[in-house]
Amino acid sequence: MQIEQIISDINKQLENELREIDSVQQLEQLRVRYIGRKGRLTLLLRDLKNLPLGQRALSGKLLNEKKQWLEQTLTQLGQRLALSGQRETPFLDYSLPGRKSGVGRLHPITQILNDVVDIFYGMGFEVVSGPDVETDYYNFEALNFPLDHPARDMQDTFYIADKVLLRTHTSPVQIRVFEKRKPPVRILAPGRSYRCEAVNARSYCVFNQVEGFYVDENVTFADLKGVLGTFIRRFFGKDVKFRFRPSFFPFTEPSAEVDISCIICKGRGCSLCKNRGWLEILGAGMIDPNVFKAVGYDPERYSGYAFGLGVERPALLKYGIDDIRLFYENDLRFLKQF
Ligand code: PHE
Repeated sequence: MQIEQIISDINKQLENELREIDSVQQLEQLRVRYIGRKGRLTLLLRDLKNLPLGQRALSGKLLNEKKQWLEQTLTQLGQRLALSGQRETPFLDYSLPGRKSGVGRLHPITQILNDVVDIFYGMGFEVVSGPDVETDYYNFEALNFPLDHPARDMQDTFYIADKVLLRTHTSPVQIRVFEKRKPPVRILAPGRSYRCEAVNARSYCVFNQVEGFYVDENVTFADLKGVLGTFIRRFFGKDVKFRFRPSFFPFTEPSAEVDISCIICKGRGCSLCKNRGWLEILGAGMIDPNVFKAVGYDPERYSGYAFGLGVERPALLKYGIDDIRLFYENDLRFLKQF
């Protein structure tokens, strides 16, 4: 047989055999079969001396080239196998029971947020979100906070750089929406807020708020009261009472804080409500004309309300938990109960 024919046969076989290799052992076996002491190429090279003189030089050249190529290929392949950490297939016992893959679940705070969002969604609110990292402009200035307002103080606000901060409430989303849209807007903006407060059972440096606001012609305080009353009845139950207490926020006028009758003692007084019988759950009010001016809304034509609901407090109540820190420590023993 001609040497070219022999080499082409070898090529075809090698191509198949190389493709099959997926362990170092198989690689070694192939090496022995071709270039080991009694390997196919080795034997062919040894038999060169029996060839007629005219064919020896060319045959020798081709066979040696093939041998070198194979050596190189096998070295590379060996390195790749070592890298991919291929090992012997482990012994597989098919009679063993399967491994259970843990099913994840929603964090209790996420569940509460979803409940809150569902209720307002049903009342025509659209859900948007804003960034956790805010500028002083959105978090304070456009919301009518005077320059010397104590909330801007380092004790309350986490600053990232000059005029860049972690939002201390979700109200900056109001400004972001007003800048982009014309009334009517009816928006719900749930999200994390941050305050540099002492951490204890009742307060934490991160918390979740749900901001809600509605701007249109002829929006009144009665609309605000109706929407919040509906929310409170749906979320806490029909028997829960609520009250509006006069309050102050720079971006609303008039402003109010809303309390619900204590769920634990039904208003009689207990340690949770500090014997007051009431629990504060949100801040609200009619959006201040100065906010409308900052975003180019005509305060003569439009009016609107806004509210900011803390989520952790209702979550504590709903689940009967007495320490807010549990929500953020990510202890699976705690989280698995929801
Ligand atoms: N942003 C206020 C807070 O965090 C709550 C609030 C929102 C009050 C909207 C009025 C209107 O305390």
